[in-house]
Amino acid sequence: MRHFLNLSSAGADGVAAMLSEALDRKQARTGWPKGKADADRPLDGHVLAMVFEKSSTRTRASFDMAIRQLGGTSIVMDAGTTQLGRGETIADTARVLSRYVDAIMIRTDDPAKLDELAAHATVPVINGLTDRSHPCQIVADLLTVVEQGISLPGSKWAWLGDGNNVLHSIVEAAGLFQFSVAVGCPEGFDPDESFIREANARLANSNARVTIERDPVRAAADADIVVTDTWVSMGQQDSGKKIAAMTPYQVNAELMAHAKPRATFLHCLPAHRGEEATDDILDGKQSAIWEEAENRLHAQKAILLWCFGLIGHDGTN
Ligand code: CP
Ligand code: NVA
Repeated sequence: MRHFLNLSSAGADGVAAMLSEALDRKQARTGWPKGKADADRPLDGHVLAMVFEKSSTRTRASFDMAIRQLGGTSIVMDAGTTQLGRGETIADTARVLSRYVDAIMIRTDDPAKLDELAAHATVPVINGLTDRSHPCQIVADLLTVVEQGISLPGSKWAWLGDGNNVLHSIVEAAGLFQFSVAVGCPEGFDPDESFIREANARLANSNARVTIERDPVRAAADADIVVTDTWVSMGQQDSGKKIAAMTPYQVNAELMAHAKPRATFLHCLPAHRGEEATDDILDGKQSAIWEEAENRLHAQKAILLWCFGLIGHDGTN
């Protein structure tokens, strides 16, 4: 049994197995109705519980469809309407859900809650986003980049905006897959330094590096991937001061022109159009945001299969 709590613990081999499995399964069902299960139904009879302490569109719908396509079913639980919302502990919730279901995905605020769930569950636990990381999103992002024909090692990713949970997982991926990330963010909104330190330690023998750039143009310069996210994440206070600090880091045509001419634009969504990115970028020729959103589904399937040991080191792929 494996928990998927972050990219580093899955390791480069584990994530690479997910990418390869996702590409194969995506290709194998081209043109099929979305509710039809994959031919091999590898998780036949399995049930995934999804616990949401925060809102979601993509994570919720893609995991629901992922388990169905693998032959299983799901239970969706909004924390506010469960006993979690009335103070039942995460540990007790983990013990109980483990008696009913075969895997648990949780979206929560404090990463300590995710760890507590994993410590007390006897089934795989998946991190569906915390305030600190969003690894499922980055498996989909890596898949999208690979599909664009970009080789991950040696590529340059430019992050523009807030040093948030999504960026933390991108930085983890950089260490695993040996690519550079230039983080363009204003002072006071840096990512957690421990992610950068750990990634740069993994990159020590390569030319790739994770760096902080206060100048958005320097961050975007010659990038293969330009990526951003909302300036105000779920649970954060929407402050005019933060928006003002972020404004120079908006991804617009002028900034995008500094990236490579064929650079790909990514955004995990939901977008705040006209804030972190302009409409012409989100809807433009270089944008792969809808492929990226679709790839959440294909990535979740691979993540589930990895959790059950069906792919990766001791799996069959
Ligand atoms: N990108 C992402 O996780 O979207 P949701 O918040 O809609 O799940
Ligand atoms: N950084 C965003 C990601 C949403 C998918 C948030 O945490 O709200």
